[in-house]
Amino acid sequence: MPITTCVFDAYGTLFDVAAAARQAAAEPGYEALADKWPELASHWRLKQLQYTWLRAVTDAHCDFWDVTQDGLDWALEAAGLHGDDTLRQRLLDLYWELQAYPEVPAMLQALKAGGMQTAILSNGSPPMLDGAVQSAGIAEVLDDVLSVESVGVFKPHARVYDMVHDRFGCAHDEVLFVSSNGWDAAGASGYGFVTAWVNRSSEPMDRLPWKPAHVLSDLTSIPQLAGL
Ligand code: LAC
Repeated sequence: MPITTCVFDAYGTLFDVAAAARQAAAEPGYEALADKWPELASHWRLKQLQYTWLRAVTDAHCDFWDVTQDGLDWALEAAGLHGDDTLRQRLLDLYWELQAYPEVPAMLQALKAGGMQTAILSNGSPPMLDGAVQSAGIAEVLDDVLSVESVGVFKPHARVYDMVHDRFGCAHDEVLFVSSNGWDAAGASGYGFVTAWVNRSSEPMDRLPWKPAHVLSDLTSIPQLAGL
């Protein structure tokens, strides 16, 4: 089936999750982050995601903002920065206005100009996603922003991917699902979407039963992959 609908993961795919720690490290007053920000950003992201999977399998769902704070607290303690409340608050504030990757606006504009339906499908809560979408200025080139809060479980639960059909009425193989998270692209492949894994940092492929249909280094070729 031709692709009619392009659906994007948010954090790490459209929005650069390392930007909060990188930006804080460059600001006066946060010199303690100078050498530590890459590891802090990596631990923060890893713990945030681990907590989503654990909460999904134990049926203990919470708002993505809670696991974002829990992951940061683990990462700050691992870096020896626990107790710096000003730093903690600055990092959390920056998470609401993450930078989009540079190619994102033009890529989404090309999809809309070509008649595609476009959406975000994310673990993020509606207020978090609204903050990121507004700060990136991409609201007009998205038909919808779908949050797992509507189904009360995190990715890669099938109920999350079901939201695309519920919203757009399209068949699974009409959807190009794009994620920088290997496990999310794999899960969506298993679900039946056509998938693209955006592997910006040349990570190894996840060892899971499903593989992404496409592996990209950034988002510029998405309109072409969608058949435009
Ligand atoms: C999201 C996370 C997984 O946006 O990046 O859903």
